[in-house]
Amino acid sequence: MRVLSGTQPSGQLHLGNYFGALRQHVALQERHGEALYFIADYHSMTSLRDAAERRRLTHDVALDYLGCGLDPERASLFRQSDVPEVCELAWLLSTVTPMGLLERGHAYKDKVAQGLPAEHGLFAYPVLMAADILLYHADLVPVGQDQKQHLEMARDMAQRFNHAYGHEVLKLPEPHILDGVAVVPGTDGRKMSKSYGNAIPMFAPLGEVKKAVMGIVTDSTPVDEPKDPSATVFQLWNLFASPDERREMAERAAKGGLGYGDVKKDLLARITAHFAPLRERRAAYEAKPERVEEILAAGAARARAIGRPVLEAAREAAGLGAPRR
Ligand code: ADP
Ligand code: TRP
Repeated sequence: MRVLSGTQPSGQLHLGNYFGALRQHVALQERHGEALYFIADYHSMTSLRDAAERRRLTHDVALDYLGCGLDPERASLFRQSDVPEVCELAWLLSTVTPMGLLERGHAYKDKVAQGLPAEHGLFAYPVLMAADILLYHADLVPVGQDQKQHLEMARDMAQRFNHAYGHEVLKLPEPHILDGVAVVPGTDGRKMSKSYGNAIPMFAPLGEVKKAVMGIVTDSTPVDEPKDPSATVFQLWNLFASPDERREMAERAAKGGLGYGDVKKDLLARITAHFAPLRERRAAYEAKPERVEEILAAGAARARAIGRPVLEAAREAAGLGAPRR
């Protein structure tokens, strides 16, 4: 069973990314035969134009994965652009992808509505994502609910390619929707997202984490009054508590006499304690950038060894290149 997923290097990772993606990716490396995780630097070109910033963010995502416990002996971590074969497969797929399929893509519509320029790369984003998945014959693709449509598109493209060229060249991947944790709310109660300015970053300097936690929006219920146990601050606190602790906290909230400030302080202490060993591991890798590059190079070599024959088979099926003798 081969597990594969990608993360865009487009900003500091936050608690939403951790609970919704990274933590589960790391857990999956234990359970399945083979895990491939890549940093989607080609995809980041649809929203980021600063080359130096892209390099920095790409390195940061590598550090984040390693800090979170990705074991480079067990899982392959690589930069998407280190296996440029994926772009060739994207072209092959684009020739069997109906415009209507891409026009229905809600990521494109949402991003254009948010003010991103309507460029071809953004429109064709799902084709490159399909190539990411199909190049490596992935069986299982753990992604958040927001990426489900992209996976369905990848399955559709694989089917169309296989149908067009009369071979089972590409393998249809199964989505593995990560629903262990519902959407993590941001400090303002909306979905935590780097684009909303409501994120609690996981590896930022502690002062920044503190500022974000203390900034969690609460209502003006006086300390003595009962509190709504589903308020954002409790939802975030719950992520770091055991079921018993959660029950107890809900009871205390319902009784009154509990100040939001105290809950925030306790949340901050829990976040700090939870991430301390991860920060330490991340810092150790941060001090050895050449080691990180070695890990990425080894990951890319493994990924390429898997991807090359798949691309070769697709080229052959489509009648590309010199005929085989
Ligand atoms: P952002 O919204 O900050 O731009 P991304 O879209 O880059 O985050 O998210 C990368 C992955 O992290 C997504 O596929 C999603 O599964 C997960 N993720 C992001 N935000 C959250 C959240 N608030 N709650 C749960 N999972 C999240
Ligand atoms: N589009 C994904 C996201 O924004 C990242 C991604 C790119 C990806 N290629 C992928 C995820 C292939 C899974 C498989 O989160």
